[in-house]
Amino acid sequence: MKNILVIGSTGQIGSELTLELRKRYGNDHVVAGYITGSEPQGELKNSGPSEIADVSNIAQLEAIVKKYNIDTIYNLAALLSVVAESKPRLAWTIGIDGLWNILELARQYNCAVFTPSSIGSFGGGTPLVNTPQDTIQRPRTMYGVSKVTTELLSDYYHIKYGLDTRAVRFPGIISNVTPPGGGTTDYAVDIYYSAVKGEKFICPIGEGTLMDMMYMPDAIRAAIDLMEADPIKLIHRNAFNVTAMSFAPENIYAEIKKHIPSFEMEYNVDSLKQSIANSWPDSMDDTCAREEWGWKPSYDLSSMTIDMLEKLSSRLK
Ligand SMILES: NC(=O)c1ccc[n+]([C@@H]2O[C@H](COP(=O)([O-])OP(=O)(O)OC[C@H]3O[C@@H](n4cnc5c(N)ncnc54)[C@H](O)[C@@H]3O)[C@@H](O)[C@H]2O)c1
Repeated sequence: MKNILVIGSTGQIGSELTLELRKRYGNDHVVAGYITGSEPQGELKNSGPSEIADVSNIAQLEAIVKKYNIDTIYNLAALLSVVAESKPRLAWTIGIDGLWNILELARQYNCAVFTPSSIGSFGGGTPLVNTPQDTIQRPRTMYGVSKVTTELLSDYYHIKYGLDTRAVRFPGIISNVTPPGGGTTDYAVDIYYSAVKGEKFICPIGEGTLMDMMYMPDAIRAAIDLMEADPIKLIHRNAFNVTAMSFAPENIYAEIKKHIPSFEMEYNVDSLKQSIANSWPDSMDDTCAREEWGWKPSYDLSSMTIDMLEKLSSRLK
């Protein structure tokens, strides 16, 4: 039986991933790690153990690993792309110094580690259409710099110490439980909230800007399936391209309008978000993930839109 620690369990991905892991492995076997000021609430709090787990405090992490006999760590602590540009030092401290602590502990206690990378690890010379698994990664954002470093450091610990590190490069994740934490693709979540509330959506990303996206149930499955994959089949480790769909603002707007014909959108482009978006792939090639561990998304733009509107309508009305 696995004993899992989710670090950053109260964030957009962690809040849903932790509950799914508890369903699969048993409530008592999945610890929700959080930091002060971001405590678990509701089902996340009540369905299993939770502990303060700050990646900058290795002693705190070690106590949790020992107390619960942890063998697998999902490390979701990070500052997302837009926030990281305004706090680059903190982004590095959480993303890289924090990862170093986790990898050292994992080496000592023999834990598997999942630390997601991102489409933000690309930029600066990357081919943006059908972006290959192995290609140029010279991003110019602190988020991107920290994600490339995450990939390299995770691979280093695997190659040098045999540590079981695995990761995906998540695209923009769309969900309806916990709001996104300040990324470039947040607009693709916010647009659904505006549509359901009957408000006009002001889009911060310009027309024609394609980016890879994925619905949360697929993102959670990608993380868990990769951690469950037969290691013999893994040629790559940190990190696999995974995608489910690629769209621009006008595409998601048109899809929502099929269900809410009165919905309106207007552009007010945010220059920082736009410059980050321009440096990210239009569409990634995720053949390696498909071949090495059977990755296949279930949701496309149309089925995701139906589900998002249904879930948000019943909650917000
Ligand atoms: N959401 C997306 O669209 C997306 C896309 C690509 C990659 N990712 C990656 O997935 C991971 C999770 O993203 P998310 O969207 O859930 O982010 P989020 O911002 O919603 O959550 C991050 C979590 O990290 C926690 N955290 C912050 N500082 C910490 C510290 N010092 N110690 C421990 N925890 C700390 C926060 O409390 C929060 O719960 C990140 O690595 C992110 O870069 C996310």
